[in-house]
Amino acid sequence: MARMTYYAPTEGGETTFTVSATSMKFGAGCLAELGGDARALGMSRVALFTDKHVRDIPPARTALESLERAGLDVAVYDEIHVEPTDRSFEAATDFAGDGDFDGYVSLGGGSVIDTAKAANLYATYPDELLAYVNAPIGHAKPVPGPLKPHIACPTTSGTGSETTSVCVFDLMAEQVKTGISSKFLRPTLALIDPDTTRTLPAGVVASTGFDVLTHAIESYTARPYTSRPQPKDPSLRPPYQGANPYSDIGSLEAIRIGSRYLARAVKDADDSEAREHLIFAATLAGTAFGNAGVHIPHTMSYSVAGLNHTFTASGYERDDPMVPHGISVVVNAPAAFRFTAEAVPERHLKAAEALGADITGARPNDAGEALASRFIAMMRESGIPNGIGAIGYTEADIPALVKGAFAQKRLLAQSPLDVTEDDLAALYKDAMSYW
Ligand SMILES: NC(=O)c1ccc[n+]([C@@H]2O[C@H](COP(=O)([O-])OP(=O)(O)OC[C@H]3O[C@@H](n4cnc5c(N)ncnc54)[C@H](O)[C@@H]3O)[C@@H](O)[C@H]2O)c1
Ligand SMILES: [Fe+2]
Repeated sequence: MARMTYYAPTEGGETTFTVSATSMKFGAGCLAELGGDARALGMSRVALFTDKHVRDIPPARTALESLERAGLDVAVYDEIHVEPTDRSFEAATDFAGDGDFDGYVSLGGGSVIDTAKAANLYATYPDELLAYVNAPIGHAKPVPGPLKPHIACPTTSGTGSETTSVCVFDLMAEQVKTGISSKFLRPTLALIDPDTTRTLPAGVVASTGFDVLTHAIESYTARPYTSRPQPKDPSLRPPYQGANPYSDIGSLEAIRIGSRYLARAVKDADDSEAREHLIFAATLAGTAFGNAGVHIPHTMSYSVAGLNHTFTASGYERDDPMVPHGISVVVNAPAAFRFTAEAVPERHLKAAEALGADITGARPNDAGEALASRFIAMMRESGIPNGIGAIGYTEADIPALVKGAFAQKRLLAQSPLDVTEDDLAALYKDAMSYW
């Protein structure tokens, strides 16, 4: 392969990247094939994970009928916490442990899919919750081996969790989000039916759509995989490897599709072309960041979401107050890209262009502002809060926000620039408001 400049070899650096992804089935109406797919994976007694809202929308009936038509014994679990917590993971694990299941189906957004991943893990290899959680918050014990088959059916166009090897939760006592990362968490099959997103409220489309765009831009601007030291053993190669030529393709295309269709999908629930493209972009970005990794906007989001439990976002009024994941990320994005552009201006300019900005005549020094200002325009168009100030934070909260973010070493490692605690404090200050 021709060596792109970004992937020039480094002394003692990594020379190999890997591509891991879930098998996928994509198409309007394909959810009706769920039962046959579950049987083909050897399932006979299935735990169907969903949440209390998704349970009431038509895709839930389609999924249940398809599983039952295929002769499977199904138990439904809908006690999911939107934005899961340690407690909701434990409750789901109790359900999974008691049920003697030989397979899992998740139907919902990232909250449901992540909960099914965790329940499958802890029911298969029981341990205390922090055992498998990423260090330094948890003990980062390796997952011992394969889990039961899991078919993930996303009903939001955002997280890409149907194709990733991580699950995320809110550790209530520490007021911080954290997660578990293992290749064994990756679902066996992703069944992506764009029709499932028809009932998504506009505010949820906006929040989850910006999650897609940030996944894609963070993967594209992440440190190159060649900058990591070569692992002593191939098994030690991390799932988040840094940007690589494969993830670049998915990232750039997801940015292009997302920027073209996000505002349309937010404004009109009947715009099936826009909603179909957006969920395609979500899975594409999931495959990209699932192999490359995300960096500063996601790192900063973990404490933005973890510390504030009083905010209610449009579209999420039925749930407990919280900062939805996509909003907790995107409010940091313009500040973060202004900062990281210095390391890889050409990639920030290319991302800005893919996002729809006119970059004619732009110089490397303009890259951060070109990307940030296009982002800010899109945030305003889709009704996203104006920075972390609009969520309820003040400058007095910055030390606590920095503490939570600086603990996310696994994500910070992907940043194209080294990040200190002082840098994070300056970034939160910039993220207070944008317009
Ligand atoms: N595992 C990963 O790779 C990964 C990546 C990014 C984010 N996450 C995590 O995923 C979670 C967020 O997931 P999400 O953004 O997909 O949203 P979500 O699962 O939290 O759902 C958001 C809201 O939309 C509702 N909803 C879902 N589908 C619907 C539909 N079709 N019609 C009507 N309402 C619907 C839900 O009931 C909920 O109220 C967070 O916890 C986040 O940290 C995980
Ligand atoms: Fe995300």
